[in-house]
Amino acid sequence: MSVPQLPEGFVFGTSTSAYQVEGAASEDGRSPSIWDTFAARPGVVVDGSDGSVATDHYHRLDEDIALLRRLGVRGHRFSISWSRVLPDGRGTPNEAGLDFYDRMIDGLLEAGIEPMATLYHFDLPQYLEDDGGWLNPATVDAFAEYAAVVGRRFADRVAHWVPISEPAVAAMMGYGTGEHAPGRTLIFDSLWAAHHLLLAHGRAAIELRSAGATSVGCANNHAPMWPASDDEADLGATKLFDTLWNGLFLEPMLLGRYPADLAPLLEDIVRPGDLATIRQPLDFYGVNYYSPIRVAAAEEGAETPFRFVPLLGHEQTASGWSVVPHALREWLILTRARFRAGLPPFVITESGASFEERPGPDGVVDDSARIDYLRSHLEAVSAAIARGVDVRGYYVWSLLDSFEWAHGYTTPYGLVHVDRSTLERTPKRSFEWYQGLIAAQAAAPS
Ligand code: GAL
Repeated sequence: MSVPQLPEGFVFGTSTSAYQVEGAASEDGRSPSIWDTFAARPGVVVDGSDGSVATDHYHRLDEDIALLRRLGVRGHRFSISWSRVLPDGRGTPNEAGLDFYDRMIDGLLEAGIEPMATLYHFDLPQYLEDDGGWLNPATVDAFAEYAAVVGRRFADRVAHWVPISEPAVAAMMGYGTGEHAPGRTLIFDSLWAAHHLLLAHGRAAIELRSAGATSVGCANNHAPMWPASDDEADLGATKLFDTLWNGLFLEPMLLGRYPADLAPLLEDIVRPGDLATIRQPLDFYGVNYYSPIRVAAAEEGAETPFRFVPLLGHEQTASGWSVVPHALREWLILTRARFRAGLPPFVITESGASFEERPGPDGVVDDSARIDYLRSHLEAVSAAIARGVDVRGYYVWSLLDSFEWAHGYTTPYGLVHVDRSTLERTPKRSFEWYQGLIAAQAAAPS
């Protein structure tokens, strides 16, 4: 079986997020986030679950850092819970919350692992949502305050920073379609939330740098958009959705402008200077990649002019995504060709797959489909590098089977299985595979 070849210094990592793993939702002064409130609504999470316990990472931090050390990763990406650090959204920091992340960062460093900290991974303090959430520009000011607080406390030790994870998902699924918290269904008016999230990215990058951060990037979800047919309507719908999902975030962050097609929709909200604030110098451009999306024109009168259709002929994951590694290679090559001078090095800040595997009678979780996914996607990264694309790292989503938003616990992504009743951790076969790959790369002659 082939082994992906990555350059010396390439960072193999793992990725998690606060609400998905921490649990301890009402402990040590943490206030509710929009996900606590949203998950409590009947019917929004498929298995009726929530993240109140999640993987109990808050109490099992040492055990989880020991797992990371055993895995041998050089980087670990986690997110800080805004409601743990600033329970009112702004104002006085909660020392117990800061202390948890102190322990996390120090523990990672002691294990020889570079921390990559995300400031926002979908979990807005509910108090701020009550005042309009990401539709309200005051939330951007509060986010800048929060970034200053965590920057002052941790910038001396955190290697890499991501202000906002996946503004596309937070805006469109949270405020557009309502599949994610806070569950608003504003369709195109969710562009206002997108603009504020982008502005928050820029403001936080400024705060982090002035606190001494030396590597600030992003983690944007990107998906190649494939038209369902070469019919003009399908091509037009695909172009529109591509602009909404990819261009809307790439262009302002890298070029300081909105895609021309969308600019009129944002006219009323963009204030002078906003685009310059959004376009901060980035030390890396983080890409969260899962799958291409197949797009068709919607029927006349539908709420949006596009709809999604299954991508046939490829293996499907438990989340319904198709496994298409070459699409990642092509996306990296094309995006580099398009943004060339404006583009910092790429880091794959999330990549992984969910498959329904449980421990066998011998206790082993034989997740060969996940190994194939990771191997083929690392090979795609290696092939992009061979074509001249600068990619510096790959962070597997995820270390642990965790709370997967609207999918609850039904779509496990972890290298480590977490038993829902005992919370016992069992490294899967993919854990051993990744461990072996990392060790082999470290031993390879340079
Ligand atoms: C991403 C998200 C992660 C994780 C992943 C797999 O969009 O950032 O938090 O849930 O999808 O579903």
